[in-house]
Amino acid sequence: MSTTTQWAIRDYIPRHENWPYTAADFQRMDEFPDGEFYSNPRLCTHIDDQAIHTLSQYYDAVLPRKGRILDFCSSWVSHFPPDLEVAAKSGSLHVVGMGMSQVELDRNPVLSTRIVQDLNAEPAIPMTDPLDAATCVVSIDYLTQPVKVLESIRDRLVPGGQVHLVISNRCFPTKVVGRWLRVSESERLEMVGDYLHFAGYERIEVVTLTDGSGWRDPLWVVRGKRAES
Ligand SMILES: C[S@@+](CC[C@H](N)C(=O)[O-])C[C@H]1O[C@@H](n2cnc3c(N)ncnc32)[C@H](O)[C@@H]1O
Repeated sequence: MSTTTQWAIRDYIPRHENWPYTAADFQRMDEFPDGEFYSNPRLCTHIDDQAIHTLSQYYDAVLPRKGRILDFCSSWVSHFPPDLEVAAKSGSLHVVGMGMSQVELDRNPVLSTRIVQDLNAEPAIPMTDPLDAATCVVSIDYLTQPVKVLESIRDRLVPGGQVHLVISNRCFPTKVVGRWLRVSESERLEMVGDYLHFAGYERIEVVTLTDGSGWRDPLWVVRGKRAES
C-alpha cells in the first residue's frame, strides 16, 4: 500500500488463472432490455456531494488536459474539475460521453460527442480515434459483458492510457449483475480488478478515495493501464 497522494493506493493481485465467473453471476433481476429502464432521464446525482468533490479532486490529479477522454455509462454530469471543463470548452480536450439517455447526455456540458449505446447489447465501443483515458462512474456493476467492453476500450487507448472505474455502494438493485449483490464491498473491488486483468490491462490498482466513514458515500477507483508497448 502506498500513499503517493492523499489517497491510499494498493496493487490488485491477480488471483485466478482462468475467468472464474459464471453466466449466473451476470444475471440480473430485471432482464428486460436496458432501454426500457433508462427511457426516463434521471437528472439526479448518484453519490453525495462530498464524494463528488473528492472524485473531482482525484480527476484533477490524474486526467489529461489535452487529447480525448471517454466517459462511458455517462449521464448529465461527469464530475470533471474546473480545469478540465475549461480544456473541454476550449477544444484542447475532447470528451466523448456514452450512455443510455440522449436527454441526460445532451445536458452534460463537458461532452463534445454524445453516443447512446446499450453496452449490454453491443459491448464494443464504436469510435476509432485514440483515447488518452477513460472513466466510468458508479456504473461498471450494470455491465453484463464488462470484459468485452473493457477490451474494446483498451484497444483504443494510447500506450500507457488509463481507465478509471469509480465504485461506490449505491445501485439500482434490479439492474446490477447478480454477483454484485451477493458479495462484500471489498470483493466487488477484486471482481472489478479481475475484469481489468482478463481484459488485458496492466498496473491494476485500487485507490480508496473515501472509506465511507461518518455516513458519507464510500468511493474507490479500480484502475488499469494499456501496456506501454
Ligand atoms: C448510476 S448511473 C451513473 C451515471 C453517471 N456515470 C453518474 O456518475 O452520474 C448509471 C449509468 O449507467 C448507464 N448504463 C446502465 N446500463 C447501461 C448499458 N446497458 N449500456 C450503457 N450504459 C448503461 C446509464 O446510462 C446510467 O447513466
